[in-house]
Amino acid sequence: MEIGELLGSGRSADVYAIDGDRVLRRYRMAVDARQEAAVMAYVAAHGFPVPSVYPGVGGGRSTDLVMRRLSGPTMLAAVVDGQITPEEVGRVTARLLRRLHAIPARVSDDPQDRVLHLDLHPDNVMLTARGPYVIDWCDSREGPPGLDCAMSAVIVAQGAVDEESPLAAPARAALAALLDELGEAMDFGAGLDRAGAMRSVNPGLTAREVGLVDTAVRLIRELGDG
Ligand SMILES: Nc1ncnc2c1ncn2[C@@H]1O[C@H](COP(=O)(O)OP(=O)(O)O)[C@@H](O)[C@H]1O
Ligand SMILES: [Mg+2]
Repeated sequence: MEIGELLGSGRSADVYAIDGDRVLRRYRMAVDARQEAAVMAYVAAHGFPVPSVYPGVGGGRSTDLVMRRLSGPTMLAAVVDGQITPEEVGRVTARLLRRLHAIPARVSDDPQDRVLHLDLHPDNVMLTARGPYVIDWCDSREGPPGLDCAMSAVIVAQGAVDEESPLAAPARAALAALLDELGEAMDFGAGLDRAGAMRSVNPGLTAREVGLVDTAVRLIRELGDG
């Protein structure tokens, strides 16, 4: 398999073109991508917008995932460029969460559990001609859907409370729209506490980012009470 140009680099992986139709996502550390490929195939089979995966294609490294190549900006890039409003970002994120949580769990026996993405934020949504697609399923697992909603809210709220970020004001507007569109699906109680605690021990965050989590959780509760 020939690997082409580097299309994107996130916190954990590099994404390379293979050809016009497929990309290779390769972890920079020893993470097994097979679990996430199985989850992506499962939600795709239920009509959820994720890039199709090609299991077994590629060099056979466990860190590799081959998937369909998407074309379009991430929702974060689109809001920075003024192609989409912050309010739309919040609403699209909420609708994707609700749609994901309408799918039955893949492995859990608990009827309340759903597939959770747990990192569904504007930089993990790509805006394609066929609508928004969700990428980056490495944190995915099953559990209560309110936790997933709370996690997305905490991530957006961290941007909103970052006084050094030029995106603080749009992130706040996106957060308000996210919470509004989530309605009853959002868990402002134990789910929000748990999301904050999980975010605080996320090894991908800097100490400064971890320092914003408590303020982010407080902002979410203020908006929820208002
Ligand atoms: N299926 C895809 N098609 C085209 N580009 C992609 C695809 N998946 C990811 N990318 C690009 O790679 C970047 C990083 O991907 P992502 O899965 O979010 O990795 P990370 O975990 O490192 O954040 C994305 O922002 C996007 O630019
Ligand atoms: Mg990402």
